[in-house]
Amino acid sequence: MAGVPPRDDNAHRSDIQEPCNGRVTDMPDGIYLDNAATTFPKPKSVYDFMNDFYRKHGINPGRSGYDAALETEEVVSGTRRKLTEFFNGTDHDHLTFSYNASDSLNQIITGVVRRGDHVITSTVEHNSVLRPLFHLEQDGVIEVTRVPNDGAGYVDPDDFKKAFRKNTRLVILNHASNVFGTVQPVGEVGALCRQAGITFSVDVSQSAGAVPVDVQAMNIDLLAFTGHKSLMGPTGIGGIYTWPGTEIRSSRQGGTGVRSAQRTHLEEFPFRLECGTLNVMGVAGLFAGQKWIAEEGLENIHHREMDLWVRLRDGLRAIEGVITYCDDDPARHTAVLSTNVEGWEAGDVGTLLDVDYNIQTRTGLQCAPLVHETIGTAEGKGTVRFSIGAFNTPDHIEQAIAAMTEIAAMRR
Ligand SMILES: Cc1ncc(COP(=O)(O)O)c(C=O)c1O
Repeated sequence: MAGVPPRDDNAHRSDIQEPCNGRVTDMPDGIYLDNAATTFPKPKSVYDFMNDFYRKHGINPGRSGYDAALETEEVVSGTRRKLTEFFNGTDHDHLTFSYNASDSLNQIITGVVRRGDHVITSTVEHNSVLRPLFHLEQDGVIEVTRVPNDGAGYVDPDDFKKAFRKNTRLVILNHASNVFGTVQPVGEVGALCRQAGITFSVDVSQSAGAVPVDVQAMNIDLLAFTGHKSLMGPTGIGGIYTWPGTEIRSSRQGGTGVRSAQRTHLEEFPFRLECGTLNVMGVAGLFAGQKWIAEEGLENIHHREMDLWVRLRDGLRAIEGVITYCDDDPARHTAVLSTNVEGWEAGDVGTLLDVDYNIQTRTGLQCAPLVHETIGTAEGKGTVRFSIGAFNTPDHIEQAIAAMTEIAAMRR
C-alpha cells in the first residue's frame, strides 16, 4: 500500500497452519447467556489456533527480519486484510489494532475533536462513548448533543440532521444497543453526515460478527470494534477502520519498528494509530475468528441466534409478571433481550438465575445509563439481560424460560 515501508513485502514464507473448521467447542458448565458482555465459549478452532500460534510464533512482529518475525507479521497483516474485507473497507493498512472498543473510541474522540467543536451522539450509547465525551464537555473543550431514542431503542436520523451545527465535527453512534439489541439506521445517519461534511463514527461492538457492517454502504468514516464479542477473538484486542482520507491525529506515540531515527510519530497507517508491541495473541484469535465466521456464514449465525431469541422473547412474554424491553422485528435486532420481573430487583433475579439455576446473565445498567433513563429502569436498578451466542441451544432457552417462570411465580 502507498506510503508504507516495504516491511510486508518480505513476509511471504509461512508454516502457519490455518485454523481448523467446525461448529464445535468445549461447552462450559451452566447456561451462559451473557454473550453481549463477551462471547463464551469461543469456537474450538480459535482456542487451538491461538495456542499453536503463540507457541510457534509468539514473536514481536514488524521489528526484525528473521523468518519467525516475518511469519508473525504475516498473520498480523492477514488479519488486517480479513477484517478490512469483512467491513468492506478498501485499504487494509487503515485497519489498526487497539485493546478494545473503549480504547478505539477514546482514540477516535481525542484524535478527531478540537477545542470549540460540537459532537453529536445518542442516548443508546455505552459509557465508552458517553464518558470520554462528558469529560471533554465538563472541561469546556466541546459541546455535546445527545439525540434521544424512541423508548423502543431506535434513534431517528432526522434528529441528527436537526442537531447539526456549523461547528459539528463528529457524530458517534452505537450500531446495536447492548441493552435493547436494536440495530440503528446507521446508513441513513451516515449519508446525512457525508452530505454535511461531518465525520461519522460508529461503535460496532455489538454488531460486528452479528449483523453485516459495511463502511461503504453505511458511509462510516471511523469504525470502532472490539474483538471479544461476536468477532470471536479473545479479550484485549480491538481496533479501528479509518476510511482513507479521514482526519484523525495519533493520540499516543512510541515505537513502530520502522524509521526509528524519526523524532515524531509516523503519519502513515497503520502506524499513525498504533504504537508499541501489538497483542499478537489477540490478533491471532481474531484471525481464527474471521475464518470461523466465514465458514459458518454470518447470516446463518444470525438466523440461528435470532430463532433462539424469538423463542426466548415469546416464552418470557407469556409469563405473568415478566416485562420484556424489545422491538418485535428480529430483522432489526441482535440476540439481546432485556427483561424485568415485577416485584423483583434485577440484581436479585440475576443472582437467583445464577445460584439456583446455573444460568448466567448480566443485570444492572449494562454501562448504558441513558437507555435506562429512557425506559424508566434507571431507578429500579436496571434490567436482567439475556444475550444469546453462537453456541446456545434450544434447551438453554427452554431452561431459561422455566427458571423465569418459577422466579415470577415466587412473587405472586
Ligand atoms: C455498545 C458497546 N460499546 C462499547 C463496549 C465496550 O467494549 P469493550 O469493553 O470491549 O471496550 C461495549 C461492551 O459491552 C458495548 O456493548
